Amino acid sequence: MDTKAFPTPALSALEKFPVVFNDQISYAGPLGAAWAPGRVNIIGEHTDYNDGFVLPAAVDRVAAFAGRMRADQTVRLWSQYFEEAAQFSLAGLPETFDAQRADLPGWARYILGVVSELTRDGIPLHGFDAVVGGDVPLGSGMSSSASLEVATAQTCSFFSNGTFSIGNTDATLTPMQVAAVCQRAEHVASGLRSGILDQAASCLGRPGKAVLLDCRSYEYRYIPFDTPGISLMVIDTNVRRELASSGYNERRQQCEEATKLLHDMITPDDPDAAAQVKALRDISPTQFAHYKDRLPEILRKRAGYIIAENERVFQAVAALEKGDIEAVGPILWRGHAGLRDEYQVSCLELDILVDIAHSVDGVLGARMLGGGFGGCTINLVRNEAIEPLRLAVERYYPERSGRQAIIDICRAAGGPGQAVV
Ligand code: GLA
Repeated sequence: MDTKAFPTPALSALEKFPVVFNDQISYAGPLGAAWAPGRVNIIGEHTDYNDGFVLPAAVDRVAAFAGRMRADQTVRLWSQYFEEAAQFSLAGLPETFDAQRADLPGWARYILGVVSELTRDGIPLHGFDAVVGGDVPLGSGMSSSASLEVATAQTCSFFSNGTFSIGNTDATLTPMQVAAVCQRAEHVASGLRSGILDQAASCLGRPGKAVLLDCRSYEYRYIPFDTPGISLMVIDTNVRRELASSGYNERRQQCEEATKLLHDMITPDDPDAAAQVKALRDISPTQFAHYKDRLPEILRKRAGYIIAENERVFQAVAALEKGDIEAVGPILWRGHAGLRDEYQVSCLELDILVDIAHSVDGVLGARMLGGGFGGCTINLVRNEAIEPLRLAVERYYPERSGRQAIIDICRAAGGPGQAVV
């Protein structure tokens, strides 16, 4: 076996496969693995569901499936992380989704969700047996669920005998169509009204690149993000909040309300301009400055953050395209301040980590990552500041938060992959 063809979690799942599935059934295909990455988001947080812009990068942490295609419609799974089995059938999907979902553990619901949404789109699928593994930290803001969803789609394509392909030309689904299927699966599996950011970032990953995505048109382009001398440190607060999804859905609703009010305020002055206002993405900073004082305070804060954050995405893109990654740092600090003070999705532990990062020379910028209310921070750090930041976090974070942080260094990496043994 060419072990270099597989990311580490895929290798470990491959090793486990014959141990778990040892009932000697006759398979319809060879042993192989498929995987998809988690992501960081450099800037553009909570802009996705406002039809705005995001700048994520897939990272070298993946969800992976290792297994073999079956001749029937059964899917049998074993989670390495939860050490737990799950099983469902492709028969009758998507109609049988609700009934089958009820019997599954949480992690398997994401997988069933993707499979069910693929069948809704008329994609022909085969059953398979697989061990599911991965090294995207769960629930930390690095999109473990999106990586699992996209890896599921990749696995279905891998185990389809060529009837379902993913790619840009002549394929059954483009990468962004896969992202949209996986986003729907996330909605049904978790109840989070999430945007397209996480799934798109996983589908579109490229080594050394970030991707600028327009979350309305789904157009995207790659932005250089190979950064010699600079590292991407991800620091996990170790805080997981059950209520995060209600806070998230509430923000989304507030953005919709702010859009409607701004639309109605602009209408008497300029009905044509108002007709263009479908989401906060359509409000320019100048328009916002003109009307903002007439918004209730909460909505003014929420909308103000989103409109400024879209601008920050373009500032970061301009800096990276000039090769000036140092200039991205201050954009991250400002992004965090907006998430903390205006969008109010940070938490004490995230603020402490950002504060510690701020006190270390050579940290260019840091901010909370993803939906918020817990999870990690992303830190752009000169290599010589990696150790000082690590020491500062180890020394001050437990003292100030009563918790231990988990520190990791990631790289912008490729998208989904697959290989036979
Ligand atoms: C979560 C959601 C994404 C996005 C981010 C915030 O990760 O899944 O769609 O909204 O939060 O940017």
